[in-house]
Amino acid sequence: MARKVRKVVLPVAGLGTRFLPATKAVPKELLPVVDRPLVQYAVDEAVEAGIEQIIFVTGRGKAAIEDYFDKAYELEDQLHTKNKTSEIESIASSRHLAGNVTFTRQQEPAGLGHAVWCARHLVGNEPFAVMLPDELLHDTPGCLAQMVDAFERTNGNIVAVLDVPREHTNRYGILDPGTRDGQLIETKGMIEKPQPAEAPSTLALVGRYVLLPEIFGLLENQTRGAGNEIQLTDAMARMIGTHPFHGYHFEGIRYDCGDKVGFLEANVAFALRRDDLKDRFGEVLDKYLAD
Ligand code: UTP
Repeated sequence: MARKVRKVVLPVAGLGTRFLPATKAVPKELLPVVDRPLVQYAVDEAVEAGIEQIIFVTGRGKAAIEDYFDKAYELEDQLHTKNKTSEIESIASSRHLAGNVTFTRQQEPAGLGHAVWCARHLVGNEPFAVMLPDELLHDTPGCLAQMVDAFERTNGNIVAVLDVPREHTNRYGILDPGTRDGQLIETKGMIEKPQPAEAPSTLALVGRYVLLPEIFGLLENQTRGAGNEIQLTDAMARMIGTHPFHGYHFEGIRYDCGDKVGFLEANVAFALRRDDLKDRFGEVLDKYLAD
């Protein structure tokens, strides 16, 4: 029987340079899509997937993320006094049972692989999920819930993938696919940021992983790869052949919120899905599109 996936690692220690100057003082992961920070969407997706423990790998300048997941006494007191029930409800999802949200630090942004390795003692010897909160994935059920379900069948590593234009392969980890069974794609190899001509496919990794704890031993002695960073993709590629490894073809909608246009698109799409906003916001959009 597959072991349960109980923990998620959220690496949030990156510099967020594509959103400067905002990210000089505000962590990229707290930028709001409509009125909820990016990280809240990821945590909701994790909770829906049955995750019980949320582990953040933070870095310098990211303390606001800890505050966000703390109880805001004065604010809640004021909201209660003023009978602002819907506002009280809106902050409920940022509160978790004490001890279920933990934080560790990556002292320097040495790469995603290094960030995940920083969580090794908090994860321990059990399968776990990794989510990149700047990838906003919209589907029902959520992407991670689908992957956890798939993990119960394969008992091995699973990475979410989707098709990208070939000219973009040098922005992603890319899968070398084997046979396909529904949304599961057997994985023969994986390469970080290949040039379009060298990419084994156009199936790109999009920030959701279910991994076996053996990854930590590989990350421990992983040499620096693309961008002079310790790459998660390189360590994962070394598990292929020794452990079951599959891509999971995500069929929902992906918003790359690490990129300005993707972030703006997510704001438009999520606002138009909201009953309280879609009419007014739709009119505003019409005004701009008519010009
Ligand atoms: P990105 O590649 O988007 O980098 O990281 P970034 O620093 O956040 O943003 P840009 O490219 O400079 O604008 C993907 C995820 O991995 C985390 C980031 O916080 C983000 O959630 N990360 C990246 C780390 O935690 N540590 C690292 O060393 C690198």
